[in-house]
Amino acid sequence: MIPIKSKKEIKIMREGGRILAEILEKLRRYVKPGISALELDGLARELVFSYGARPSFLNYKPGKNGHGYPAALCVSVNDEVVHGLPLENKILFEGDLVKLDLGVEYEKMHTDATIMLGIGKISPMAEKLMKATRECLELGVREIKPGNSLNEYARAVQKHAEKNGFSVVRDLVGHGVGHSIHEPPQILNYVDQRMKDIILKEGMTLALEPMINEGGFEITLAGDGWTYRTKDGKLNGHFEHTVAVTKNGCEVLTKI
Ligand code: MF3
Ligand code: CO
Repeated sequence: MIPIKSKKEIKIMREGGRILAEILEKLRRYVKPGISALELDGLARELVFSYGARPSFLNYKPGKNGHGYPAALCVSVNDEVVHGLPLENKILFEGDLVKLDLGVEYEKMHTDATIMLGIGKISPMAEKLMKATRECLELGVREIKPGNSLNEYARAVQKHAEKNGFSVVRDLVGHGVGHSIHEPPQILNYVDQRMKDIILKEGMTLALEPMINEGGFEITLAGDGWTYRTKDGKLNGHFEHTVAVTKNGCEVLTKI
């Protein structure tokens, strides 16, 4: 069952989403050559608590077993796709493509967002991937409206990625979000029969997160149990917004 949120719950998510967007904008200013991912995580934690919110990912267990996620922020660089651990020795360098993924719990409701940015001057390919990934999300968002299925979203994302010569990650997906950070439905970013049956309705709240690879779509999980990387070592692009389905379309909750 896909939970439908009340007007009141969406209002809270709008406030939480705005807090999240503001924090990501503040973090953006610190992303300079020489800063470590651990420092960014520390800043993220401080900022989240300063807004009276809680970091959703901290201690979160995506599977049933194992340890919770040990940080507030995911910092994924270049070929890292998602869930990059913010380690002290993960230093950002000129030319890196960086993704900052953060979840915020505010008044018991969660929102989730990811921004991508380049450190100083990045390669033309990195620029192209970043632009195409941003556009994939924008084009996908336009398909989120009552009566459309999630396959319309998936088609828009996949078509634009492939038109640019890129591929869509298959093994990781977007998700419903709200009462918890991951709720049904799973949101594939490529056309699939399963997406056809999910018809959008007013009050659904979704984390849309196209993951677009420069090379092949295959990914691998690192020995740390968290970090996903592209199998071929090429770049990955990832942007994410939390949206609420409205009467006629959708509202992006995680933008300033
Ligand atoms: N934004 C991430 C996702 O949707 C959430 C990561 S939770 C973590 O997959 F605990 F795995 F970091
Ligand atoms: Co997410």
